[in-house]
Amino acid sequence: MLHLKLEDRLRAAVSEVIADANSEVVQVRPCPDPKFGDYQTTSLMTLAKQRKMNPRQFASEVLQRLDVSEWCESVEIAGAGFLNFRVKNAAVAAELESALKGGTLFFQRTTTPRTIVIDFSSPNVAKPMHVGHIRSTLLGDSLGRLLRLLGHRVITDNHIGDWGTQFGMLIVGWKRDLDRKALEADPVAEMDRLYKKIYAACETDLAVREQARQELVKLQRGDETNRAIWREMIALSQAQFDAIYRRLGVKFDHTIGESFYNPQLQATVDQLRARGIARESEGALAVFFEHVPALKEQPALIQKSDGGFNYTTTDLATLEYRLATWKPDDIVYVTDGRQQLHFQQLFAVLRQWHPEAKVNLAHVWFGSILGEDGKPFKTRTGENVKLADLLDEAEERAFAVVTEKSPELPEAQRREIARAVGISAVKYADLLPNRQSDYVFSWEKMLAMDGNTAVYLLYAYARIRSIFRKGSIDENSLRTAAIRLEASHEIALGKHLLKFGLVLEAAKDDYRPNFICNYLYDLASIFAGFFENCPVLKSEAKVRESRSALCLLTGSVLKQGLEVLGIKPLEQM
Ligand code: ARG
Repeated sequence: MLHLKLEDRLRAAVSEVIADANSEVVQVRPCPDPKFGDYQTTSLMTLAKQRKMNPRQFASEVLQRLDVSEWCESVEIAGAGFLNFRVKNAAVAAELESALKGGTLFFQRTTTPRTIVIDFSSPNVAKPMHVGHIRSTLLGDSLGRLLRLLGHRVITDNHIGDWGTQFGMLIVGWKRDLDRKALEADPVAEMDRLYKKIYAACETDLAVREQARQELVKLQRGDETNRAIWREMIALSQAQFDAIYRRLGVKFDHTIGESFYNPQLQATVDQLRARGIARESEGALAVFFEHVPALKEQPALIQKSDGGFNYTTTDLATLEYRLATWKPDDIVYVTDGRQQLHFQQLFAVLRQWHPEAKVNLAHVWFGSILGEDGKPFKTRTGENVKLADLLDEAEERAFAVVTEKSPELPEAQRREIARAVGISAVKYADLLPNRQSDYVFSWEKMLAMDGNTAVYLLYAYARIRSIFRKGSIDENSLRTAAIRLEASHEIALGKHLLKFGLVLEAAKDDYRPNFICNYLYDLASIFAGFFENCPVLKSEAKVRESRSALCLLTGSVLKQGLEVLGIKPLEQM
């Protein structure tokens, strides 16, 4: 990795200037503006500031001791004291050649793997999975793929909402109003109907509310009838979730629902009380955070005045179970932004409860999906959009796109391609925006052939594959190809390929797969420029070989990048 080689030399030079400097902080990153160079470091300024040195003076002292002439044409001090590196084409070519020989694709697997639990998707029993759950599902899945690719031990856990007060109401509804036929036809819709009906009744009718409370108590005490109903609701819901996961190609290592932790809740609360971490407040039990400024006014309730437990209690028991079972270095929770306070409280309780725990806890949150009117994304009749319907529509619309582009293919094949394209388009559209901003859902945008879309990237990949078919190029023979970077489009492509690993690292550090989307889009665009300006198959042997190898590497990086996003590229479209 070229940037690592530069980084090593730079660290050595820094140590020569300041013997005890923590050279770990010295990093080489892509230069934001290629006008000034290919790589850049801003770390020297940070170091200089810490030591109260003049940053430009420090940079020039480091520069005097820095020898990177085997890879760089020039290194220049710029601005307040950063260094810009311009690399030699030969150095870029050497990196490309080593990747061809079977090295990794411009990224490095970590030598210090972490054990990382990812809690994502986590839909609720008896409720349709909605578009909010799709963001958690896709983001979590992509982060899992990314972390695994970089060499970490990833444990994914689907924390299904299969416990809680809603089951009191659901059981009342089930006993009074269940329509078996409707349940067979669409179980989740029927359960949703029951829930809404009883929920409304509870608002106005005290007797119904009391009934729901009693059914809940019976369920919690293990009443056989209520347990059986509850189990059936879980099984029916899980079947629906599984159908969606199958379509999305998402798998979990574990699916441990909230109910699993039920037996631990009392003990969890007792412990927190005994340790003086939780205390009574207006009949309920809560943890106060006097020492955490942001949470001063926001105690976390862990037991209600009627003795019932809540979401936080379950999450505390879950946290303890995960720490004991998997001994993770990190736990990552992927949910929407409205749960920020909940996770701040949860993390703050853990720090009091297990101050020795070294685990790093991260809440990776995301914004909402909006309709084109800028309001929360709903159907025309104002209902929540169901995930299954959304995926159906994506496939249908993709079929129209594929038919327009390749009318000559037989319908069965176009259908198959459309299935992949439709799902990929939804995934990509969801991963592309900065996760913390709300985004507007638009079919036209996500299925556009020439924007930053899955469709565009999939076609770019398929086009590369078709070059190989057309030219009957033997990919194996390219392993030892000599890369020649002469035309500006070749140089730009080669330099961009090298940055793949840096982008993967940045996406990992910030839990932001959108960095990968943007990188791949740039790659496909740069490749399009190269392909237009640099004939591949019609060139003389040496050039043809070098350019074919550039096509091969571009295809491999595209494929790897798409796979991290959970998108499987097609060989032919
Ligand atoms: N079931 C919750 C919901 O639909 C998400 C659970 C997230 N994970 C957790 N450990 N709290 O909002």
